[in-house]
Amino acid sequence: MAARGEFSSRTAFILAASGSAIGLGNIWGFPIKVASNGGGAFVFTYIILTFLLAYPILMAELVIGRYAKADTVRSMVAISSLRTRPLAAFTGYWGIVTASLILSFYAIIAGWMISHGVGSAVELVGASSNWFVTDSTARSLAFGVIFYLLTISIVANGVASGIERWSTRLMPVLILLIVLLIIYIATQPGAAEGWRVYVQPDFSKVLEPNLVLDALSQAFFSLSLGVGTMMVYGSYVSKSENLPRLGASVAAIDIGIAVMAGMLVIPAMYVAQHNGVTIYDESGNLIESGRLIFNVLPSLFETMGGAGIAVSLLFFVLMSIAALTSSISMLEVPVAYASESHSITRKKSAWLVGGFVFLMSVAIILNMGWLFDRVVQFATEFSEPLVGILFCLFVGWVWKRDQLLQEMREGSPQVEQTFFWKIWPTYVKVVCPLIVFGLLTRSFGFWEFVGQLVY
Ligand code: PFF
Repeated sequence: MAARGEFSSRTAFILAASGSAIGLGNIWGFPIKVASNGGGAFVFTYIILTFLLAYPILMAELVIGRYAKADTVRSMVAISSLRTRPLAAFTGYWGIVTASLILSFYAIIAGWMISHGVGSAVELVGASSNWFVTDSTARSLAFGVIFYLLTISIVANGVASGIERWSTRLMPVLILLIVLLIIYIATQPGAAEGWRVYVQPDFSKVLEPNLVLDALSQAFFSLSLGVGTMMVYGSYVSKSENLPRLGASVAAIDIGIAVMAGMLVIPAMYVAQHNGVTIYDESGNLIESGRLIFNVLPSLFETMGGAGIAVSLLFFVLMSIAALTSSISMLEVPVAYASESHSITRKKSAWLVGGFVFLMSVAIILNMGWLFDRVVQFATEFSEPLVGILFCLFVGWVWKRDQLLQEMREGSPQVEQTFFWKIWPTYVKVVCPLIVFGLLTRSFGFWEFVGQLVY
C-alpha cells in the first residue's frame, strides 16, 4: 500500500476542511432557511447549535480519524472492542454509502451551477444562453459529466497535490467573490430592506421547534457530519496539531461564510422584489428554494443591465467553487477506503468510484421526478444523522477513555485541564446522540416513504 497522504500544514487542513464544510448548504440552504424562519432569529439559534451540538460531533470524527490514520471502515474498527467490531465496520461502510448518495445528487445541482455560469459567459459574448439555463436531461447529463471530471481529477491526485492544492487555491477566490458580490448588491435599491430583515431578529421565534430543528439539520449538513468526510480529513492531520482548536476554526469559518452568504442572498432577494420579481407567494411564504436560485436571482441579474451578466457569472462561479471543494471531500470517503483497504491505486480508485457514483447520478437524472427528492431525503434526513449518532456512541461508550485522552493530548498536552475536556466526553456520550435522535424523528417522512414503496 502506498504511503498515506497528510496535509502539509495547519492552514492546509483548515482550508480543506472548511472547503468541505462550505458548500451549497451555506450559500443556498442557509440564506433561504434564514429568510423563511424569522431572519436573524434563525442565525442566532444556528450559531449556538453549531457550537453546542455540531462542533462536538465534528471533534468526534476528527479524533477518530487522527487516532487511526486510516479510511473510515478501518478507523471505526480501530476504536471498537471485539464485540462491537461488526457494528463499527458497518458504520464505516454506511458512511461510505451515505457520502456516495449525497455526492450523487449534489453533483447534479453543482452541474446546474456550472451551466448557469457558462450561460452567463455565453451571454457576455452576445450569444443565446437559452440551452444553458433551461432545465433538460441533456443539460444535466452534460454538466454532470463536467463536474465529475473536475471532482475525480482532483481526488485522483491525492491529499497534498489534489485536495490540498485545490482547496488552498479555490477558498481564497470564494471568499473574495462573496465580498465583492455583497458590496455590489448592497448598493442596489431595495437591498436595505433585505439587510433589515437579516439583522433584526424576531426573538419570539428563537425557540420554535421547527426553527430549532431546521437550524440543527442545517448545522449538521453544513459541517459535513455523519458521512465520515471529517474522519478521513482528520486522518490526514499531523499528530502535532491541537485538534480542538483546529475543529473550532473550521466551525467558525463555516459559520462566518454562511453569515456572509446571508448578507449576499437575502438583500439580493429584496432587490429582486424591488425590481418587480416575485419572491413571496400569495400566502406570504417564500417561494420554493430551487426557483429562488435558478429563476429569481437570474431574473434579478437581468434587471441590472450589462453589469448583471457579470454579476451572474461571478455568482455561479462562486456556487460552483463552493460545490467542488465539498464534493471532493465526499468522493474522498469511498476512494480512501478503496485505495487503502483494497490496495487499488488512488488514481484507479478515484476513477472507478467516481464513475460508479456518476452512474448513480445518471439514474437520478433519468428519474428526476420521483427519485431526486427521495435520495436527498434518505441521505440527509435519515442516514446522515444516524451515522452521526453511531460515531458519537462509539466515541462515548466503546472507545477506551484513556486511549481517547491520549490521542487528544497529542498536540494539546494540557487538554485535560481545559473546559473542552470537562464537558465534551459527556456531550458526545449522551447529549449529542439524544438530540440528534430528536432530529431523526422528524425525518419519519422516511417511514412514509418506505410505506409508499411497500404499498
Ligand atoms: N457541507 C456541505 C455543504 O454545506 O454544502 C455539504 C456536505 C459536504 C455534506 C461533504 C457532506 C459531506 F460529506
